[in-house]
Amino acid sequence: MQVKQPRFFEIDKENKDANLQELSHGLFSPQATLSPKYFYDEMGSVLFDAITLLPEYYPTRTELEIFVDHASEIHARFPKQATWVDLGAGNCQKAVQLFTHTMPATYVAVDISVDYLSHNLKDLQAKFAGINVVGVAMDFSNSLTFPEELQKQLTAEPLLALYLGSSLGNFNPTEALHFLQRVASLCKMGQPGSGLIIGIDLVKDPSTLERAYADDLGVTAAFNLNVLRRVNSLLGSDFDVRDWQHSARFNVPESRVEMHLQAKRKLAVNWHGQQRLFKQDETIHTENSYKWTIEKFTTQLHTSGFSNIRHWTDEKSHYALFWAS
Ligand code: AVI
Repeated sequence: MQVKQPRFFEIDKENKDANLQELSHGLFSPQATLSPKYFYDEMGSVLFDAITLLPEYYPTRTELEIFVDHASEIHARFPKQATWVDLGAGNCQKAVQLFTHTMPATYVAVDISVDYLSHNLKDLQAKFAGINVVGVAMDFSNSLTFPEELQKQLTAEPLLALYLGSSLGNFNPTEALHFLQRVASLCKMGQPGSGLIIGIDLVKDPSTLERAYADDLGVTAAFNLNVLRRVNSLLGSDFDVRDWQHSARFNVPESRVEMHLQAKRKLAVNWHGQQRLFKQDETIHTENSYKWTIEKFTTQLHTSGFSNIRHWTDEKSHYALFWAS
């Protein structure tokens, strides 16, 4: 018997030159920066999965708790016989956990990490033979245009866009607005009943936030430091992980947790005849994770073009799930 295989579209083949330029530009900025998209090589994806199991990292667990505690109300809003578009699907577990209540007709997993995605989707298709499993490898932070063949399918059925795990927090508010506007347009293309379910991490006391990004086992530190090895392999640079330490701070006025890598001593990093000097304690800014209030995020959804908005939170109001259509 022939085993059903997932369909796979690779839209953004890794553009090596653009990556090299972006990396060099970030490293030469007065406040050196590296985009968080470089976290997710094979090791980075595994380390991120481990982060979601840490007692200090509450978002993943709390999101699931809200899905369980409010299951009937949430699933009542999900369109039936729909195409699910899982943005930033990763290991697909967050969406698969919802299949016990609502089964999609088609499951489209979208992620930047190609290898990780294709590996997970083969297992998923074997487990759920009744669903059409589709993988799309693309960087959806700048565009949500799918291949024509797939776009047709998205307009033919009701569409459920999923953006889970508080990943929107890695966009600044302006980027988040543009992204949500693109998702609102996508939902409008789908048949009636289409909508978005999105997980948002809420503003809370700084110590809870900082512990979530600086855990006792040092898994988040390893996740952050691993980006230097990724950069070495992409750029040919000579970062020595042992010279750097992880730091995570809640920036109150900006309402974001910032992750940095801090130089333990004065040092130089070299690549292809280029050099960046770092003073002791100077940092490379590697990630922002914005935290929202219910009020501000509701306004953000309205401004993006959604009109029907509902949300659910956990008991401590640490996290929220929003429905928007
Ligand atoms: C993927 N993203 C939502 C995570 C976050 O919380 O910003 C990435 C992460 N960084 C450190 N821990 C987890």
